[in-house]
Amino acid sequence: MSETHPAAATSPSSQRVRIELAERSYQILIGDGLVEAASTWAALPGSASALIVTNTTVGPLYGQRLRSSLMKRHGRVHVVELPDGEAHKDFQTLNLIFDALLTKGCDRKTVLYALGGGVVGDMTGFAAASYMRGVPFVQVPTTLLAQVDSSVGGKTAINHPLGKNMIGAFYQPLLVVCDLDTLATLPGRELSAGLAEVIKYGPIADMSFFDWLERNLDALLARDRESLAHAIKRSCEIKAAVVGADERETGLRAILNFGHTFGHAIEAGLGYGEWLHGEAVGCGMVMAADLSVRLGLVEPALAERITGLVRRAGLPTTGPALGADRYLELMRLDKKSEAGDIRFVVIEKPGQAALRAAPDGLVREVLEAHTG
Ligand code: NAD
Ligand code: GLY
Repeated sequence: MSETHPAAATSPSSQRVRIELAERSYQILIGDGLVEAASTWAALPGSASALIVTNTTVGPLYGQRLRSSLMKRHGRVHVVELPDGEAHKDFQTLNLIFDALLTKGCDRKTVLYALGGGVVGDMTGFAAASYMRGVPFVQVPTTLLAQVDSSVGGKTAINHPLGKNMIGAFYQPLLVVCDLDTLATLPGRELSAGLAEVIKYGPIADMSFFDWLERNLDALLARDRESLAHAIKRSCEIKAAVVGADERETGLRAILNFGHTFGHAIEAGLGYGEWLHGEAVGCGMVMAADLSVRLGLVEPALAERITGLVRRAGLPTTGPALGADRYLELMRLDKKSEAGDIRFVVIEKPGQAALRAAPDGLVREVLEAHTG
């Protein structure tokens, strides 16, 4: 599934991972200096125009570099900068992308480039899915979280005040370009948030990767290039295998939501942007691991290891005191709920996850133990 990037075979951190989805298959490029090297990426459909969608933080850092690089592919490269933050992942901000596309005269061949974290990526993907009923798009993720998770797999969405990622579409990019250089400017809190989604892959799919993370977490926090490249590659490989088997989440793909049922409740309950998505997922994994123990599926030692790694990554392990009733109310709105029954991703055995309903009483015990 992965191979060395031939264009930069001398760099140990250059890799490719392929997502196998029949005619919608695509590559994830992982390496250094990729933003500047658009001409080396891969063959993409020819188009006279492109729109880079970014935000007011990432645009000034990397927008011009990407624009210069893309000028070799497209005659006209426009840029739109969205306001930054999860609180802006909404209809009003989405409309700024459509405004830019229409005022610049973009047609159905225009390629959209999402330059930023998961918020920009999710919104650009949704805009690409719906502008003129679908235009091509490329993900250029610049946060660790986006490089290991959100840019891969084709889930696109905006939030609704009543629930996270409630309005969206499955729509695959043509290519994902993970430039390790961009991680140099990422704030430490955001790096930690990204590590939550990296840690997630261990208990659900690969305990030897979890062992590796326990050994290499300090190197990752110190942004060691080779360690980051390995963590991103392995995360993308696991995600590629899951998405390749279940693109539209009819079953298996739900395991990628380990920690997210509790996590989404934290995000929605506090108001979007208060806790970072990765922080909420980290804490949610602590809760979901404890639920797995209380359901009698795994030993407490596994939950302790997960909690320990989440804590070492600099993530919160105690959730906000929203009250159990509020948590339960918010979790019933989760997309995995069926007929009002909340379904949680639990660890069935180390390295293997499943979707399960759990008695409210048990969930209340978990919330009692991990909020406050
Ligand atoms: P984000 O997009 O808000 O980015 C985090 C912050 O870092 C922002 O302020 C951003 O401007 C800034 N930033 C980005 N790159 C930077 C860089 N290189 N240098 C300096 N600052 C930089 O948050 P995120 O954690 O990337 O993504 C979270 C979002 O992703 C959530 O909305 C979540 O729902 C979504 N998500 C989607 C999927 C999916 O499958 N589509 C999966 C996981 C998460
Ligand atoms: N991040 C969950 C998924 O892509 O399915």
